[in-house]
Amino acid sequence: MQHPLDRLAAGLAASPLVRHLEGFFRDHPDLHMKDMTLEEAGPGRRVKLAGRWVVNFGSDSFLGLDRDPRVLAAVRDGLDHWGSHNGSSRAFSSVESNVRAEEKIAAWLGAESALIYPSVTLANLGALPALLTRQDAVVTDQYAHNSVQQGVKLAKASGVKTGQFAHNDPADLDRALKSLRPYRSALVAVDGVYSMTGTLAALVELRDVAAANDAVLYVDDAHGTGVLGSRGRGTVLDALGNYDNTVVVGSLSKAVSCFGGFVACPERVRFLLKLRSAPLIFGGPVPPPYLDAVCAAVDILDSADGDELRAALGRNMTRFCGGARGRGLPVIGGVGAIASVLVGDEAATLRAGRAVFDRGFYVQSVIFPAVPHHGGLLRVQVNANHQPTEIDALVGVLADVLDQHHPLPRVA
Ligand SMILES: Cc1ncc(COP(=O)(O)O)c(C=O)c1O
Repeated sequence: MQHPLDRLAAGLAASPLVRHLEGFFRDHPDLHMKDMTLEEAGPGRRVKLAGRWVVNFGSDSFLGLDRDPRVLAAVRDGLDHWGSHNGSSRAFSSVESNVRAEEKIAAWLGAESALIYPSVTLANLGALPALLTRQDAVVTDQYAHNSVQQGVKLAKASGVKTGQFAHNDPADLDRALKSLRPYRSALVAVDGVYSMTGTLAALVELRDVAAANDAVLYVDDAHGTGVLGSRGRGTVLDALGNYDNTVVVGSLSKAVSCFGGFVACPERVRFLLKLRSAPLIFGGPVPPPYLDAVCAAVDILDSADGDELRAALGRNMTRFCGGARGRGLPVIGGVGAIASVLVGDEAATLRAGRAVFDRGFYVQSVIFPAVPHHGGLLRVQVNANHQPTEIDALVGVLADVLDQHHPLPRVA
């Protein structure tokens, strides 16, 4: 008789997603670049990855704060002061740094309050089910981040009505909300910046439809935090002018270069989230040294220094997009820190990503399920501390590689 754990593994191996991915790894053993080891980091964005020194265009640390002496000093001082962890759920107690970091984030964003989770994934898994009951409904953009979709699945398991609408399509949002009526309350969950393409949510149009249907807008702004909007406050305030009827989720692990995620919302909602959010009650918090580092990073982001870093990032992104488009590459996004070069075919995407790596640059080769089938792309994360020469060289390599491996219908 088969051992139960072997039977379990065999059952999982037969699932469509695992078969698809294992098939890819088998058919293209030299191409896929997953699960690699980062062996050395620095200076700048140079890294030794899987045995090769490359310039890293796959870092979410968009402003280079992971190397800022003020952020590093805060982590060190935090370690000396608090130790490596306080080892208690926030349901019992929060270190003072946690309270201070939340106050700082709220003040920076101009929101009433903020609540920190150990990651954006846990914020979405914690907040979405906690904000809804079986009398309520939630609809998501079809391309909203996986962690938003997983949060919605948890809500659905407790009886919340769920639906989806076509990407960034206000008319389809209206249809989706109406199809779920009657509901007591509803959420419309979207990303502020779509992480695979770098494109923005149509926040004004979606907010208007949400408001017309008595629904609250829920924006996962992980990639907007620190980068977009005045003083890096993200996409929401700039687009909508206020946080009325909006819950915002932000990241502390990307441009902020620390660790965690947060929900910015009215104080009353924050209180309810603390009572109802399972990951906060039954899980541990962000380690205190990283909360001290969040305070230091937010001080930088909310200052002229932060403006300079965002300007440097903007210059680098303009250089990349201008150069790539000048070489006829089909580039999308490019508003914040993410621009993607469309390839389409999945094997061609992996081949191109590998060839770019072999020539000294790391960009992420993105294929299904992160993007739709045949929607493969090379995702370029531009950072403020990339050198202009590195950006120009990447553009040259991308153009050569795509000419060689996957001649594209070039944009005139
Ligand atoms: C839109 C969005 N939400 C959530 C996450 C997950 O964030 P975390 O790593 O903090 O869980 C990401 C990660 O890239 C993201 O792009």
